[in-house]
Amino acid sequence: MTGKIAVVGSNMVDLISYVVRMPGKGETIEAPAFEMGCGGKGANQAVAAAKLGANVMMVTKVGDDIFGDNTILNFQKFGIDTRHVEKLPGTSSGVAPIFVEPSGENSILIIKGANGHLLPADIDRAAEDLKTCDLIIMQLEIPLETVYHTIDFGHRHGIETLLNPAPAAPDLDPERIADVTFLVPNETELALLSGLPVGNPEQAETAARSLLAKGIRTVIVTLGAKGALLVTATATEKIAPIPVVAKDTTGAGDAFIGAFACSYVQDHDLMAALTIAARYAADSITKPGTQKSYANAQEFAAFRAGTTLDP
Ligand code: RIB
Repeated sequence: MTGKIAVVGSNMVDLISYVVRMPGKGETIEAPAFEMGCGGKGANQAVAAAKLGANVMMVTKVGDDIFGDNTILNFQKFGIDTRHVEKLPGTSSGVAPIFVEPSGENSILIIKGANGHLLPADIDRAAEDLKTCDLIIMQLEIPLETVYHTIDFGHRHGIETLLNPAPAAPDLDPERIADVTFLVPNETELALLSGLPVGNPEQAETAARSLLAKGIRTVIVTLGAKGALLVTATATEKIAPIPVVAKDTTGAGDAFIGAFACSYVQDHDLMAALTIAARYAADSITKPGTQKSYANAQEFAAFRAGTTLDP
């Protein structure tokens, strides 16, 4: 496959409880099932792209606890370049307790651990390898200064960048992300960034346009069960939702971004990449887990063949 992707971002250990309902304050209730898996928005996006066959490099930090080595091995299992994955002495790995309700919806708590120590100097250390990439992907589970520094780095070296502003961060400065090539928020993140309501696709488009006015060139809004929206200076395109029964929506946004990146770096066909991303994310929510629910290229082809969407 052509095109190389770098993910400058997080990794977490997902501790997933499948609950009947969320406990109230001071209440103890029993949950029917638990699973542990590799997660973190950055790692998820890297693994989704790699499972589909992309050439991926990861820039991240793990703790020197029982989870760190396993996370590195997990990247390597999928052929991800880990030369810039550093184990940090005396620090815990990132951990994410996750609660999935019967509707498939999730609530996530993150403890950043080593991810909080991925600094601009680490990007400088990886610079020569980052310069060989076609797309650099970021999220907000690492320090904001590192995100700003990486966007500037991409801009200076003519490398396209994608920022997934997740989880929503009130102190993210829209002016300092203006040079990003793609901004990919969900509705909550878009509302926070724009300060505008996003109750329906029309409002989401207006909110996305307000970010274009701040200098961002391309906004891709993920709308969950309502599909996605591509907003540029010259056009607005709707990416139709894919009807599936949701079992676990955890990591669906990451699946979308990983699949988008894998397809986009090959031929730079934006709409084709978004169409593939929507289908890949839909497939992921039909299965439990985060990275575990991501299809490889063969499984994804089978999912597409089984829908009426891709004759
Ligand atoms: O987007 C899903 C991810 O968010 C989970 O894997 C969890 O680790 C948190 O980072």
